[in-house]
Amino acid sequence: MISSKMKESIKNGSAIRKMFEEGNRLKKIYGADNVYDFSIGNPDLEPPKEVRDALIDISSSDIPGMHGYMSNSGYESTRKVIADRRSAESGLDIGPEAVCMTVGAAAAMNDVLHSLLDPGDEVIVLAPYFMEYNSYIANHNGKVVIVNTDDKFMPHTEDIAAAITSRTKAIIINTPNNPSGVIYSETFLSELNSLLKSQDHVIQVISDEPYIDLVYDGLSVPCALKYIDDLVICFSWSKSLSLPGERIGYTLVSPGNRDFEDLTQAIVLSNRTLGSVNAPAIWQRVIERAIDAKVDVSDYEKRRDLLYSNIVDAGFDSVKPSGALYIFMNTPEGMSDEAFADKCASHNLLLVKGASFAKPGYCRLAFCVSESTIRNSRKAFFAIAKELGIPHRSSL
Ligand SMILES: Cc1ncc(COP(=O)(O)O)c(C=O)c1O
Repeated sequence: MISSKMKESIKNGSAIRKMFEEGNRLKKIYGADNVYDFSIGNPDLEPPKEVRDALIDISSSDIPGMHGYMSNSGYESTRKVIADRRSAESGLDIGPEAVCMTVGAAAAMNDVLHSLLDPGDEVIVLAPYFMEYNSYIANHNGKVVIVNTDDKFMPHTEDIAAAITSRTKAIIINTPNNPSGVIYSETFLSELNSLLKSQDHVIQVISDEPYIDLVYDGLSVPCALKYIDDLVICFSWSKSLSLPGERIGYTLVSPGNRDFEDLTQAIVLSNRTLGSVNAPAIWQRVIERAIDAKVDVSDYEKRRDLLYSNIVDAGFDSVKPSGALYIFMNTPEGMSDEAFADKCASHNLLLVKGASFAKPGYCRLAFCVSESTIRNSRKAFFAIAKELGIPHRSSL
């Protein structure tokens, strides 16, 4: 008999995955061209050529022991390349001992939370947020404490201060954010640091950064290492190099972190004992060689612009995202996100309701889908707006 905790989790399931399955079902009935599936953030650009070349080269070479175990934190040479890059970006002196290679950001977050949490410890999350955090925190017997953001999805330190208790162990930040695509400012990061440093116990900032390289309009994401001392980064190449199935990422503890020694050791031990043991060997070597590779972000920017135009031209409202792969649009006035998602599904347009990110009143659309899907969906947005009596802002 499975545990009651798992029974509950299975019942709740993942709304995003359910939508994904629904998309596949509808595509079988109506044909792929007639279903506008914006439900899942599966990057559809192919990995850059440098990555594929490095993979071919490494897999056909015969480096002795290249398929063997290595240190649980990963190859030192790979960790050094990452540490050097982060040193250059932050101006800090970061060594390879700060880095632990992981099985993507999901494993990185689990390693960090396992290292930090005693049963009942609290972790602050900023709504809207990636709901898998709930499972990651529950895995290590922690308690989720939700702090809301404003109508532009920006967090405020006064609200965070009000949520801090003697049991607060960490706060998770995710910028650019899934689902809103907003980037948190330097001012927010430095105010957050001052707030946390003024507490009488250490509160770690876990910066979940899978979207840090996916930014648009010539913007850049403030480097959390420059502003926050008690920081641990969870990074992954799932989105930035389109490698989500390969499972490669890392944790990096800031050299300014007051718990640096304990935390780096605990993360490496967690990586082993939680079952990853170490990150995939070949992918560590690929990353080491292709550290400067990038997917063409302008492709995503073009798709964001097209999808955003569909939404606002049809008459709906939305904040324009500056990064990541999603648009978090407002649901029409007086309509629940559930009812709006159902209405959209009746036009074969699939999106994820905001309640799945602890922010009802909005719906998330992933724009990492083909340009033709986005173009074809325009008529569906217009038809939905018309049915709801919402005036268009532009012609079809
Ligand atoms: C905000 C956020 N964090 C973490 C992850 C997990 O990423 P990974 O594939 O690296 O485990 C995702 C994946 O969608 C995400 O959106």
